[in-house]
Amino acid sequence: MLDTKVAELLNAQVNKEFYSAYLYLDFSIYYGEQGLEGFANWYKVQAQEERDHAMLFLQYLQNNGCKVTLEAIDKPDKTFASFGEPLRAGYEHEQYVTSLIHTIYDAASTAKDFRTMQFLDWFVKEQGEEETNAEALIKKYDLFGSDPRALYMLDGELAARVYSAPSLVL
Ligand code: FEO
Repeated sequence: MLDTKVAELLNAQVNKEFYSAYLYLDFSIYYGEQGLEGFANWYKVQAQEERDHAMLFLQYLQNNGCKVTLEAIDKPDKTFASFGEPLRAGYEHEQYVTSLIHTIYDAASTAKDFRTMQFLDWFVKEQGEEETNAEALIKKYDLFGSDPRALYMLDGELAARVYSAPSLVL
């Protein structure tokens, strides 16, 4: 069994990751409605990755004999006035998720829960990649987003993103 506080935080993270999936699916729907199918694809793939993250936390809890409680997922409530806004909201959200992962890591470290620390190592690295990707997307949009032809090409680039299963297997 895991430390009670660590298990609580891991259970909460299941919900946070499903919320991330919901949020990015909402972004995907927004871009699809605007005719930017590449951006829509990019966030649809991101939503799939977030579902994977949720399932990894869930599986880890089950593997350690912990009860899993599924809580209600918040409704994504943002409205967007420009194509760039979801990109910035996504970056801020990833920074928030990184802080959540670090909080769990800190609790695991305090509890000398080395198994959970090792499990979380993958997520610490993953968050670094997710923040980098989100930031890179903003940079590209800021450079090219105001030119319709360049935006069309960027949309085409984002259409090429394909889903791949997470490298972490439990
Ligand atoms: Fe599951 Fe985007 O962090």
